[in-house]
Amino acid sequence: MTRCVKRPLFVALALGLAALLAGCGGSRPAPPSDPAPEAFAWIRKAGGLTAQQLRGRDIFRAHCDICHGTTGKGDGFNAFNLNPHPRDLTRIVGVRTPEDLRLSVERGGRRQGLSPLMPPYESTLDPDGLDDVVSYVRTLASGPVAAGGAAH
Ligand code: HEC
Repeated sequence: MTRCVKRPLFVALALGLAALLAGCGGSRPAPPSDPAPEAFAWIRKAGGLTAQQLRGRDIFRAHCDICHGTTGKGDGFNAFNLNPHPRDLTRIVGVRTPEDLRLSVERGGRRQGLSPLMPPYESTLDPDGLDDVVSYVRTLASGPVAAGGAAH
């Protein structure tokens, strides 16, 4: 006899639960159009660069920009003066390894078999600064750089 009493109670509870779930689903707020949390907004403002790359960007602007140009295309203020022209760094990244890039910056062009017009930075930047600027230079790559060959 007790069974007959319990079953409607169970059904009522199940229906109640279903109504509750449906209700919750209906009142759920629509997802925001930009899923990235607001806390990361500053990273987007900084162009998605990491802290290391941002430090490297400051170094690049202070030391390299003048020849290689703000975007690394080799069109800096001083570029017209130099023969060969400063390398278009946006095209070199896929051709050179990070170690090669670092050595060129550390030792300068002459010791790497490149033009002596690329100055050495071993006494200007500490090892962390060299790593930072190379990490930034690697972000300058544009287009299909990995195809190789087209260094100039
Ligand atoms: C006085 C001008 C000048 C400044 C300043 C300068 N560069 Fe250069 N850089 C050059 C020139 C010119 C070359 C091309 C050498 C060649 O083609 O033989 C070069 C080449 C390079 C290369 C080698 C590219 C390759 O072919 O492997 C890298 C990497 C580089 N520069 C990064 C930097 C960075 C990073 C800085 C700042 C820390 C910097 N350069 C500052 C003139 C400059």
